[in-house]
Parts: sequence; structure tokens; C-alpha cells
Amino acid sequence: MPVKLSRALRNKLSASGVAAAFREYEHRFRMEKRKKSEDGERHYKEVNNLYYDLVTDFYEYGWGKSFHFAPRVPGESFKASLARHEHYLAHVLGLKPGMVVADIGSGIGGPLLEIARFSGTKIVGVNSNARQIERARQLTEEAGLTHLAEYSHCDFLHVEASDESFDAAYSIEATCIAPDKVSVYGEIFRLLKPGGEFGAYEYCLTERFDDQNPHHLKIKANIELWGGLLVIDDYQTVDEALRTVGFEMLETRDLAAQDGPSIPWWQPLAGSGLSLTTIRSSSIGRRATRTLIRALEAAHVAPRGTTRVAEGLNQCATAIAEAGRLGIFTPMYFIRARKPI
Ligand SMILES: C[S@@+](CC[C@H](N)C(=O)[O-])C[C@H]1O[C@@H](n2cnc3c(N)ncnc32)[C@H](O)[C@@H]1O
Repeated sequence: MPVKLSRALRNKLSASGVAAAFREYEHRFRMEKRKKSEDGERHYKEVNNLYYDLVTDFYEYGWGKSFHFAPRVPGESFKASLARHEHYLAHVLGLKPGMVVADIGSGIGGPLLEIARFSGTKIVGVNSNARQIERARQLTEEAGLTHLAEYSHCDFLHVEASDESFDAAYSIEATCIAPDKVSVYGEIFRLLKPGGEFGAYEYCLTERFDDQNPHHLKIKANIELWGGLLVIDDYQTVDEALRTVGFEMLETRDLAAQDGPSIPWWQPLAGSGLSLTTIRSSSIGRRATRTLIRALEAAHVAPRGTTRVAEGLNQCATAIAEAGRLGIFTPMYFIRARKPI
């Protein structure tokens, strides 16, 4: 039995009712998607928290400490490609010692720690999920980076920091989770000092996405539900939202469209699994994990409902790999924008 997975299941997916939490997530997601709730309020934060409480250990087990995709070239390891994607943001934003930077939607801190180490910049991770923040703090201690990394447990639409308190901000596959782009970009704009830059990797539908094609629509719905996303926008919506809140656009491009030989970003989800670094995320690896979890659940070692979470994530992975293969979706629409002086 993989030691890491059993530890994760024991520690976090405790007897607190995984099955009930999963049902609650699905119900709330569908209500929020239709912008309906019993009390008339938006509950995107609760939806996200339910989702990340359920999936975080699976992500860490199957993917690692950085919860994002990356462009990759032949001869480059999966791990190196993730780090390069993170370093690229630090490089284009000119992060250096003395700056104070916000990481919007910081996960368990994998990218934050890598960027802090790479650039020497002080970074504040903003995240609404308490369990992820706890794990990030633990990893920060272990990495000996408490002097460069700190975390703020709050909603990225209402960040607990004063206006113009950051020299720069970045977000890796996280602002895509906001209920709408204008709200989240507007909050980032508020946080930046005049002249401060924002860089991000956005999830986007590409121009190949056809909203009349039932297969495309099904894939999109699966990515949304099982990926915890209320909406997936297209390039134009992202660009317009940045301009609407006042940003000056410096650069936007889809990094999935690379010149020269490359390994598709979605390959780790679709591949045969015959690589030590990507075996767990591959279709074979995911099947093996699901079988193992089913056995653990039957033996009452894993809480009831764990298999359902694994199946949901498997559907998400299959949908993302298919979307990547068809070229209708990208997780790396790169944006770089500046708050005018
Ligand atoms: C796909 S993960 C990416 C995490 C991290 N950027 C990385 O690449 O490892 C998305 C992150 O956004 C966070 N998030 C989602 N909704 C949020 C909200 N309303 N406020 C703050 N963080 C949020 C999630 O908790 C999660 O950590």
C-alpha cells in the first residue's frame, strides 16, 4: 500500500463523513452554478472549501506540491517543467529581494516556496482553505523559509490587506476559480502599488471550443464540476476583465502553443504511466489508485465515500486530457498586466 496515500487518508479524510461532504459539494456546486441559494447569497467560497477539503490529499499524492500544469520539452522531467513554469512568472515580474508579493490562491505553497527560493522575494500566500494553509505552513517550516513566506487565510475577493500594499502579485491556476473575473482582478488591482505588475496562468476555453458541440459541452461540464470551477472563460473575457478593472495589458498568450518539439501539458494525465514521476497521475496509475481505495473503503480503512472522490477526480482528469487533445482548453493562458502609475 503506498505509504503516502494511506497517511493522507488517515489524517484528513477522517471519519468526518466524506460521503456526506461529497454530496454536499455536488449539491452546492449545482446551486451556485445556477446562482441560486436558499438565502440569496453567493456561496462560491463554501463550494471551494468543500471541494479542496475533499481533494487536496489526492492532488498532493497524485501530482505533488504544486497543483498546476506546465509546458514541457523533450528531455525535461515533469518536476523540472513545473519549477520552470513557476520561475518564468518570477522572471517576467522581475521578483527580487526587498519586494513584497501576493500569491493569489496559493494551494499548499508548492509554487510559493519555489518562487521565494528562486527570487528571494517575500511572498504572502492568499488562500481560503484552512487545511491547505495548515499544510503550507508545515511545508514552509520544513523548507526553512518562514522568513520569506507567510499565509493569509481569506477569500481572494476580500483580501485582508490594505490598498496598494504589494509590489507585485501572481496567480497560478487559481483566479480561474473565482465566480467572475472582474471581481477577482479588481481586488488584485486594489492590492497593487501603482506600477505594480500582475502575472497569471488562467484556465481558458480556446477558439477551437464550439459551444454547439455536445461533446465539447460535456467535457467542459466535467472539468467544471470535478475541477471545482464555476465557470471557464475564453481569452476575450479574461482580457476584457483585466481592462475593465483598470489594468494596462502588457502581454497575453497561450503557452500551450509552443514553437519546436514539446510534450503536451496534458500528457501526464493521459500517458501510459511508464514514468516514475507521472505514474500516479496517468490513466493506469489512477485506475490502480481507485482499485486500492475501493479495497481500503471495503475494509473500513478509508472512510466511506473516498472511492467516489477518486472517481470524480478521475473523470476530471479524463475530461482535461481530452480537452487538451482536442485543443479546446488551456490551463496556461499567460497574462501580464500593470496597474498604471
Ligand atoms: C488549482 S489550486 C492552485 C494552487 C496553487 N496556485 C498551485 O499552483 O499549487 C487553486 C487554489 O485556489 C484556492 N482558492 C479557491 N477559491 C479561493 C478563494 N475564494 N479565495 C482564496 N483562495 C481560493 C484554492 O484553495 C486552491 O488553493
